[in-house]
Amino acid sequence: MLTLTRNDFPGDFLFGASTSSYQIEGHAQGGAGQTHWDTFARTPGNVVRGEHGGRACDHYNRLDADLDLLKDLGVDVYRFSTSWARVMPEGRGNVNEAGLDFYDRLVDGLLERGIKPAATLYHWELPSALADLGGWANRDIASWFADFTEVIMGRIGDRVWSAAPINEPWCVSWMGHFLGHHAPGLRDIRATARAMHHVLLAHGRATQVMRGRGMDNLGAICNFEYAVPVDNSPEAQRAARTYDGYYNRFFLSGLFNGAYPEDVLEGIGPHLPAGWQDDFDTITAPVDWCGINYYTRKIIAPANGPWPALEEVDGPLPKTQMGWEIYPDGLHAFLKRTHDAYTRGLPLYVTENGMAAPDTVSNGAVNDTARVDYLDAHLARVKQAIDEDIPVKGYFVWSLMDNYEWALGYDKRFGLVHVDFNTLERTPKASYHALATAIAR
Ligand code: NOJ
Repeated sequence: MLTLTRNDFPGDFLFGASTSSYQIEGHAQGGAGQTHWDTFARTPGNVVRGEHGGRACDHYNRLDADLDLLKDLGVDVYRFSTSWARVMPEGRGNVNEAGLDFYDRLVDGLLERGIKPAATLYHWELPSALADLGGWANRDIASWFADFTEVIMGRIGDRVWSAAPINEPWCVSWMGHFLGHHAPGLRDIRATARAMHHVLLAHGRATQVMRGRGMDNLGAICNFEYAVPVDNSPEAQRAARTYDGYYNRFFLSGLFNGAYPEDVLEGIGPHLPAGWQDDFDTITAPVDWCGINYYTRKIIAPANGPWPALEEVDGPLPKTQMGWEIYPDGLHAFLKRTHDAYTRGLPLYVTENGMAAPDTVSNGAVNDTARVDYLDAHLARVKQAIDEDIPVKGYFVWSLMDNYEWALGYDKRFGLVHVDFNTLERTPKASYHALATAIAR
């Protein structure tokens, strides 16, 4: 049971669930073009068991049944993403009508069921043809993305309730270009710096396109990790501050303050593209809300080597299947800081929060009590923020269903609904039933 229910939140507070296209659709069908995740996954050593999103949850062919799961859950809003390569297989030019039709049916299916469609335009599967041209390290990506925005919003922009261009700029730039854990698998500070800037530039261009089409309720979605110094030494404090800088402050500062933090520029400044200072008019194109994706904290220690000269160390708190510490206070801290220092009154949404567990079906049921407790504890911090007059307007669980957890493949289960990846059978978990009870109108 969740201890908090809809009645504990303001009347206009929205409950939702999130997914993303590559993680659930089954990318290898319906005429979608190849993406950098397809090739990243086919390169040995990148993804556990070489798993990829070719079939995933086969949501592409099970759309109506999955939308019924959302309806029975009783959510007000559903956050999905649109696959660039499904709509434009080469990233530019050619349009795949079947792809546009799919998102059309998705949006109409939500509206028919009384659920608000919340679109994210890019959730990590870059068309390979654009990756070949340098992807996020190439400044032209902002124009390519603006063109894609025109095409997809030309079809569904009249009916979506909200839209955000990019999911998690930090992951796009750092996981893909610095850590090498995500496509395109680079470990290069210069490519990282360029991707950090271009992802914000692309966000701004797409926002302008959508505004120009008369759309409203446009947002930006960032992910945050609460950085804790390993001890009281000045070196550890410096390391945690650096982590907080390039992970959390950089993107908010660019989007809402029109500047990059000095301590992050120390590391990436020499690698940013020429003229970056002139792009802030575009990057700060006004948005109507900010989305926060939050899961965990990290304990940070200083390390030898070039900037950022730090490392993550193991923490003492209980952990999820991802090995991530459960730290609900961090969610409250980020809601407060985002409001106080960056968004100053704009509506905030928790656009992702949830946990992975090695859930199994037994007698037709999945008893994921740890997830119920996780959601309850985080919802309590959301309520605390609202009680402090921070304008948090909604909360989305990651994820509606178990799905492709990127380089970790299919065994990290984040869903409210269990998916058997052999039979593709869906089984709502205890957390699904608990949330449904808590938010029933
Ligand atoms: C954030 C990402 O947006 C999503 O794709 C991912 O599955 C979850 N976090 C869990 O790691």
